[in-house]
Amino acid sequence: MTETPPVISIRPTEDKDLDAMLAIYRHHIQKGIEPGVYDEDDTLQADDLKRRRKNMKAKRLPHLAAELNGQLVGYAYAVPFRKRPAYRFALKHSIYVHRDFLRAGVGRVLLPALIDACALAGFRQLIGYIDAANEASLRLHHNCGFQEVGRLPSIGYKFGAWTDTVMVQRPLGPGNQTSPVIW
Ligand SMILES: CC(C)(COP(=O)(O)OP(=O)(O)OC[C@H]1O[C@@H](n2cnc3c(N)ncnc32)[C@H](O)[C@@H]1OP(=O)(O)O)[C@@H](O)C(=O)NCCC(=O)NCCS
Repeated sequence: MTETPPVISIRPTEDKDLDAMLAIYRHHIQKGIEPGVYDEDDTLQADDLKRRRKNMKAKRLPHLAAELNGQLVGYAYAVPFRKRPAYRFALKHSIYVHRDFLRAGVGRVLLPALIDACALAGFRQLIGYIDAANEASLRLHHNCGFQEVGRLPSIGYKFGAWTDTVMVQRPLGPGNQTSPVIW
């Protein structure tokens, strides 16, 4: 008999997810290569997460959780690419997967869900900034239709070394093929 693979479900994050999201984030800033050491402050990050979740509804910005057997195993969200109005159809995003569930296909489910949610909300371009050494993220993004559009050499400094950042981008919905619904 073949085993049914575990089902990862995606839903909007809720206030009750805050601690689980922070735990995931903390692990990656301490041990991982993303996102860097500049915002290690837990209080800042907690406030940031709260604020983003609050803004999410007002600005139609997706903020999603991935759940497996009732546990939060990852989260992803998008924020405006820039504040100036000309860029209001462009978003940048972040994605984090729980350390115990890495390489188990969570990103492969969560990132497409974020892309769909951003497209559905009327946005037209999605941008990611990825550490050049982050093979997992580069691969995930490539597989989800992102293309490298730029490279910022020696833009970061962490764990005693200069780091490059790769900018990736993909269109959302019709991308630039039609004019946006103006808002
Ligand atoms: C990047 C990240 C979100 C990927 O999530 P994940 O759930 O582990 O990835 P998946 O299991 O869905 O795998 C996605 C693809 O990446 C590949 N991959 C995953 N981990 C990898 C690794 N360590 N090295 C190389 N490739 C890797 C998988 O093989 C898969 O490719 P495939 O579909 O061609 O087989 C996760 O590693 C993470 O949270 N990292 C720390 C935070 C981070 O770097 N966020 C991104 C900031 S830009």
